[in-house]
Amino acid sequence: MSRPIGASRPLPLWASAAHRAVFRPRRHVHLRQDTVTVVPKRSAHTVEQPEFIRGLPLTWPHEGWRENIVLEVTPSHRKPRTAGDRFAWGVTRICRWAMDLVTGMGPEQKVDGKHPTTATIAIKPLTESQWLVRFIFLESIAGVPGMVAGTLRHLHSIRRLKHDQGWIKTLLEESYNERMHLLTFLDMYKPGWLMRCIIFAAQGVFYNTMFFSYLVSPRVCHRFVGYLEEEAVHTYTRCLQEMDSGSLPGWAAPGFKIPDIAVQYWGLQEGRRTMRYLILSIRADEASHRGVNHTLGNLDQGSDPNPFVQESSHFRHMELAATRPAGLERGETIRSE
Ligand SMILES: [Fe+2]
Ligand SMILES: [Fe+2]
Repeated sequence: MSRPIGASRPLPLWASAAHRAVFRPRRHVHLRQDTVTVVPKRSAHTVEQPEFIRGLPLTWPHEGWRENIVLEVTPSHRKPRTAGDRFAWGVTRICRWAMDLVTGMGPEQKVDGKHPTTATIAIKPLTESQWLVRFIFLESIAGVPGMVAGTLRHLHSIRRLKHDQGWIKTLLEESYNERMHLLTFLDMYKPGWLMRCIIFAAQGVFYNTMFFSYLVSPRVCHRFVGYLEEEAVHTYTRCLQEMDSGSLPGWAAPGFKIPDIAVQYWGLQEGRRTMRYLILSIRADEASHRGVNHTLGNLDQGSDPNPFVQESSHFRHMELAATRPAGLERGETIRSE
């Protein structure tokens, strides 16, 4: 029997069963009227969040920074004092080298290699998209250590039937804060497939390396994160300088709008909703991570309490951390009775 033109040939029985298994039509789910929601369209790279998810309160709302604190932050470097510090510093240098490579930084765009975390002048500035690529790589890595450390301390607490001395909250809050940085920049730049592959692979390597390293020496890991945060403060300071010198005109244009997620998270008032103030706020966050992690690297990992959760106003303590680039010494945090 001849088929009408355009009609497909009927599938043999076996193929028809396989086809149904792979391309099984979705069953209709009958939802109550008040639970029905519109799921936004999936694009090649992103799935937009539905309105009711976006409207949820933030897990860890940011209390915002006082202006004098954001302006006070400066790049700095804590000189290594022990073999563990030197190891952490060496690994940080390798990470910076890899970061420069993947973000396509030319030799004339690099700062003085003898003072990599404090020198901020280069012959040639970076472009806006180079900065965004750098921020996205940096933040996709920076969100890992706090989660690893928080996870391991949580597991340690429930495995050893012990309190955690108040470290977990600060560590998880740090990783959340880094993720908010990343989500903010993703509103301004959509990475291509190559960048996504590098981020994907880097996370696999970095998460697992951090996990096993933290089991071996949490102290060295906190020192390493302290050094990574020195890099972050350096990156954002240099970006601010290039913004101030007029090299990044797109971000200073009157019509430029920062993402809504940033306005909501940092609670930025009208007049502060500029790229400059956003970068200042993110830099202050990085400075607080720098101070927190260098401090945690100075403490006894098993018994010392976290000094950044002593009072209800957490961000007063974050201000202290932001203004202490090398962290607090153990003697400043532990009171002997
Ligand atoms: Fe960050
Ligand atoms: Fe950070």
